[in-house]
Amino acid sequence: MNLIKVENYEEMSQKAAEIIINKVVNNPKITLGLATGGTPEGTYQHLIENHQKNQTTYQHVKTVNLDEYIGLGATDPNSYRHYMNEHLFNHIDIDFENIHIPNGAATNLQEECRSYDYVIDQLGGVDLQILGIGRNGHIGFNEPQTPFNSKTHIVELAPSTRKANARYFNRFDNVPTHAITMGIASILKSKEILLLVSGEDKAEAMQRLQHGEISESFPASVLKKHNNVTIIADKKAISSCLVSP
Ligand code: F6R
Repeated sequence: MNLIKVENYEEMSQKAAEIIINKVVNNPKITLGLATGGTPEGTYQHLIENHQKNQTTYQHVKTVNLDEYIGLGATDPNSYRHYMNEHLFNHIDIDFENIHIPNGAATNLQEECRSYDYVIDQLGGVDLQILGIGRNGHIGFNEPQTPFNSKTHIVELAPSTRKANARYFNRFDNVPTHAITMGIASILKSKEILLLVSGEDKAEAMQRLQHGEISESFPASVLKKHNNVTIIADKKAISSCLVSP
């Protein structure tokens, strides 16, 4: 895993956007794997600014999102579909036909999982997958103990994940209990992975990722098995007081 150390959240966002824009310019038909949450918001903002300033086009870019809450339809303000529209898609020239996000309101959720993997395969796999990391090491919504060979599936969210995401909801009780997520095997099939890590609340996870063993109890550790992973982490996430002797 390559590690790019940056000063802060802003520099992480700039660097990540720079990498993504270069890929899009060199391969206008790229399939991007996208994440939601607080971490990539700044990156998306830079993509939008660059699109407006330099007209970088996303007309032929395809996107595949990692996950979606179960029970929230596309128009629900807390759905990840809504997040993506607000934070990126509504502000660039992407063809909405090329956007793929699991449907958390599907009547047949098992079928939704199966067809999501099929869609990814039909696209020829993800070329560049953007990831954030949960404090418990989750990637996508693959919580600890998720088998490394999992494909897209339904998960029960860990209490700590619901708590961390409660900031987006009026009440903790409104945070969905379940989600659909690309599985760990689906994520690992990506040709290249860019993991963004910022802030001191991620320092413990970062420490474990760098120095811990590969184990299903810490999902992100599986990234060590992939041959093309870049981590962009800021100073607070690489907190020196946590570095092992
Ligand atoms: C989001 C996702 C999650 C987040 C993780 C970190 O699509 O898959 O794995 O990346 O929960 O969230 P933030 O960035 O809010 O700290």
